[in-house]
Amino acid sequence: MSLRNVFTLFGNPIKHSYSPEIHKEFQKFTGIHYVYQKHLVQHHNFEKKIKKFFNSGGSGANITTPFKKRSLFLCDYITKRAFMSRSINTIKRQSNGSLLGDDTDGIGLIYDLNRLQIIKKNSKLLLIGSGGAATSAINYLLNFGCNLTITNRTLSKAFRMAKMYQSYKNKIQILPMKDITKSSYNLVINATSCGIYDKIPNINYSIINKNVFCYDMFYKKNEDTPFLMNCRKQGASHCFDGFGMLIAQAAHTFLLWHGIFPCINEIYKKLNKNF
Ligand code: ATR
Repeated sequence: MSLRNVFTLFGNPIKHSYSPEIHKEFQKFTGIHYVYQKHLVQHHNFEKKIKKFFNSGGSGANITTPFKKRSLFLCDYITKRAFMSRSINTIKRQSNGSLLGDDTDGIGLIYDLNRLQIIKKNSKLLLIGSGGAATSAINYLLNFGCNLTITNRTLSKAFRMAKMYQSYKNKIQILPMKDITKSSYNLVINATSCGIYDKIPNINYSIINKNVFCYDMFYKKNEDTPFLMNCRKQGASHCFDGFGMLIAQAAHTFLLWHGIFPCINEIYKKLNKNF
């Protein structure tokens, strides 16, 4: 059976993902119809599954944790932003059968931070994490003009991530979690995958107070993520999860696949009510 016009999200775990609902709304709003499904992949099987999907005619894929970096090696071409982040969350099968890899996470994040009006040029920002999600974000945050402190459980990964941004070295500092003790950030972004496993990054939460904007790239239906729950305990009153980012990155994916940018605000209003 040909998988033409079939788009699939691959990841592990995958149960929590809200992407199929978002793509359903995009279809309603644009009148462009396609099948969007999600597929749980075992770690050892990822490359095999993706190849099989595209060899069977699959039109496009979304890639989520923990396969974003591995996907780089499956694409024939990648966009500049995917090259910068070394991470793929979207693959498009082109008319000649070649695979184009893109990364829409960073642009989705910056779109959402702007929508929420919680980012300014020169904002002091703490970015927690150095995996695919953080790597996608860093380029956009630096271009926006932010001053970044980066921390990660495995600090060497933070250094590796920042290596590409030598020209911004006055705008970046890297610190171990235990050394982040001062409450000097306008915005704290959790870019770790902790939330998926009901965990929180082990930072010192006393750096959070009511004036700090807290953003978790992870999201949970109808409740706070574990990270935001901890921030609220410290008095944070401006807490946002990654649902807006999810819609924005999906809209940029839709643009790559179908050549149209769906109306994000309308879809956000509609889905957020039911979320
Ligand atoms: P994603 O594509 O979602 O970013 P990833 O590339 O696997 O997924 O990266 C996961 C990130 O979450 C990493 O920064 C990871 O920290 P390490 O580099 O030390 O592995 C972070 N992470 C995952 N579980 C964590 C935990 N329990 N505590 C702290 N950080 C965690």
